[in-house]
Amino acid sequence: MATLFDSLTIGKLELENRMIMAPLTRSRANDDDGVQPEFVAEYYSQRASGGLLITEATNVSAMAKGYVRTPGIYTPEQIESWRRVTEAVHGNGGKIFTQIFHTGRIALPDFLPENQLPVAPSAVKAAGQNYTDTEGVKDFVVPRELTIDEIKATVNDFAAAAQNAIEAGFDGVEIHGANGYLIQQFLSTNVNLRTDVYGGSLENRARFLFEVVEAVTEAIGAERTGLRLSPGGEFNDIKEDNAEELYAYVVERLNVYPLAYLHIGTFDQNRDWHPVLRPIWKGVYFAGVGFDKQRGESVLAANGADAIVYGKLFLANPDLPERFRLNASLNVPDETTFYTPGEKGYSDYPELSKAATA
Ligand SMILES: Cc1cc2nc3c(=O)[nH]c(=O)nc-3n(C[C@H](O)[C@H](O)[C@H](O)COP(=O)(O)O)c2cc1C
Repeated sequence: MATLFDSLTIGKLELENRMIMAPLTRSRANDDDGVQPEFVAEYYSQRASGGLLITEATNVSAMAKGYVRTPGIYTPEQIESWRRVTEAVHGNGGKIFTQIFHTGRIALPDFLPENQLPVAPSAVKAAGQNYTDTEGVKDFVVPRELTIDEIKATVNDFAAAAQNAIEAGFDGVEIHGANGYLIQQFLSTNVNLRTDVYGGSLENRARFLFEVVEAVTEAIGAERTGLRLSPGGEFNDIKEDNAEELYAYVVERLNVYPLAYLHIGTFDQNRDWHPVLRPIWKGVYFAGVGFDKQRGESVLAANGADAIVYGKLFLANPDLPERFRLNASLNVPDETTFYTPGEKGYSDYPELSKAATA
């Protein structure tokens, strides 16, 4: 019976425990060039006692950028800035993957080269708004439909980003197939209205995902590739008809790839997908969203997952594993500083003081 404190092998890596830091966008990068400032290394290295850290979603290309102050991994300067992070985490004995993504229609022209329209499987606008530093919130726009050649180029961008991640010293990458970004836009039935080989049937809607998985695993090895999915997730105005059938199909087919892990976490829905998908997936299974220590322990004990992914709790508690071990009290996450620039609410959450643990 596994516990949170047991080690776990993923690919060729030995994780010291099964408490994983979730990917968390924090919007601390330089907005003009997607370079991470130096204090980002401190934030991640403070959390190195997690079995594995997964970085915030990181843009695979200039066209991928959908949020203010988000980092990239497609220029030499960005790669250099991430190297500081991986060195600091490894220096503290940690392991770290970077989450790579393309936001598709969730971008605004404000974030894109020459203020282009964002791209998507089809020209379907998302309901809702996005935030800009200069003009506040703005409505999403009608995106431009990707051509087949552009789809192929975007697949290559994921593979190049994965290669850059290895060059930056990451132990691997997590492909972001969740939360309504480009990959899930292809999986959806409301953003993907294509009539070519990328639209229509389950197989066609999953084609882009599998091409990305194929290209990334080819580039860096399946043992260094993880994947996040958010089955049935409606975040970013996504609809998936027959989500259960879709994800049963996708996860079954993924078994061909000996991935480092599959990370399942739908954060906008009450439905518990873990009992549905865990039995289908033959590899290492990470369960996320809404876990505390107790629920994590009981899911591991029942073999409902191999490891538990913690988001807000890790955001606010750099020493979360130690706090769980001691059943110590937890810092409360401050939502007002989730996405604000600078170190406040970022690298200044306190560790347990020696006095408190004595
Ligand atoms: C501030 C913040 C930023 C997030 N950024 C990302 C992200 O970049 N990539 C991602 O896959 N999920 C992201 N999420 C979702 C988290 O990974 C996680 O699924 C969510 O916080 C629910 O887990 P929790 O209940 O343990 O916090 C973010 C969540 C928060 C609160």
